[in-house]
Amino acid sequence: MLRESDQNPFLKGNFAPWRMEGDALDLEVVGEIPRDLNGTYYRNGPNPAYEPRGRYHWFDGDGMIHAITLREGRAAYRNRWVQSRGLGEERQAGRTLFAGLLDLDPGETPQFKNTGNTNIVWHAGRLLALMEAALPTELRPCTLETLGEYDFGGRLMGPMTAHPKMDPETGEMLFFGYSPFPPFLQYHVAGPDGALRRSEVIDVPWPSMIHDFAITRDDVVFILCPLVFSLEDLARRGGAFTWEPERGTRLGVMPRSGGSTDVKWFQTDACYVFHPMNAYREDDEIVLDVARYRRLDFMAPRVAREQLYRDENAAHLHRWRIDLRGGRVKSEPRDDVPAEFPRVDERRLGRKHRYGYMAAVGPDAGDGRMPVFTALRKYDLVGGGIEERRLGPGNGASEPLFVPRAADADEDDGYVVTLVYDPARNASEFLILAASDIAGDPVARVRLPNRVPYGFHGNWVPAE
Ligand SMILES: [Fe+2]
Repeated sequence: MLRESDQNPFLKGNFAPWRMEGDALDLEVVGEIPRDLNGTYYRNGPNPAYEPRGRYHWFDGDGMIHAITLREGRAAYRNRWVQSRGLGEERQAGRTLFAGLLDLDPGETPQFKNTGNTNIVWHAGRLLALMEAALPTELRPCTLETLGEYDFGGRLMGPMTAHPKMDPETGEMLFFGYSPFPPFLQYHVAGPDGALRRSEVIDVPWPSMIHDFAITRDDVVFILCPLVFSLEDLARRGGAFTWEPERGTRLGVMPRSGGSTDVKWFQTDACYVFHPMNAYREDDEIVLDVARYRRLDFMAPRVAREQLYRDENAAHLHRWRIDLRGGRVKSEPRDDVPAEFPRVDERRLGRKHRYGYMAAVGPDAGDGRMPVFTALRKYDLVGGGIEERRLGPGNGASEPLFVPRAADADEDDGYVVTLVYDPARNASEFLILAASDIAGDPVARVRLPNRVPYGFHGNWVPAE
């Protein structure tokens, strides 16, 4: 009998899990690591510790953190699993105990693992591994040791998105949690000291998978897509989440100074958005840049393998202008090359940004069945230019992250960093590019001792 790892593309090639934990000092560097780049890049992604029990979805794997620490021109690497309670139980048993997303039985209370596999963020002195369906998991920053689930001192009731927003001026962490069961959406604010200060329920027209959101200096913007959760008539609908485009997509704008009763919903064409790039106010409009899918089928088991990242199931950079007075949403495609994992300079979060960075599907990315990003794209959203760096066939990149040269450097004055798989070495590199010239010679390429499986999100924590 074929095992799942013999047939599932998310368990093969550089999607396959890396099953060792380790530490490596003084990595080989091609080029020179800038002396002003001191800190640690943390990257999270799914890395199943055991052969799946049934069908595997990319979102199912246990979280693994890969950390690259740069100090005075030298680089070190460390990787550790997020040691969740569920993974602990599996270690005891020596096998998988939990069903994946595609095999959940709605007739049973789900046996569910907080994998912490999606993002890793730093706020108020805490390093938190996040997945959207559960509490954060706190890790020790130096050793990556798992400290356990973190619930803000007992104050956070419900799950936390993997995409909280750190306001660059106030130091607050704004976030939300969604659930397929009431309350469907809750909004939270933690102060710069990390204390949870505010939590409230937001009414939504239907329960959906809400992966991320956007903020401006004055607003919170929720993105409600027509991927609708329901347990009714599952056999006919093919899964718990179904694509119902006739509902359209709704953007919920809430003033940060207001509350849930102040949310206004704006209607736009049906689409799915995992990730906004950024948002800001401009006169009576909110400008919101997103990676937009025309539809999203890949939660449905029958298409999960065949149709992953092509045609309408691929994302493109798109700009919305929400006219707060007129009530309409203007829609502008900004690129025709499929791309995901949009980022801006985090110091511009909620403020007008000029530049954005994305991982793109290069011409050599294969048949497009898999989300392999063999190019990086940098968008000048004021000047209108797009710069691209091609990485080579099979050399898939992770999310590109902007790191400023110094805390007070200008936007774009710094580096774009990412992990890139090198099939020739069957290992990954930590690539450091000059943000002002992403297509030019790399500033440095740090050769890691092993491959880092394709994963999700990362962030930079500067050295003290
Ligand atoms: Fe994400």
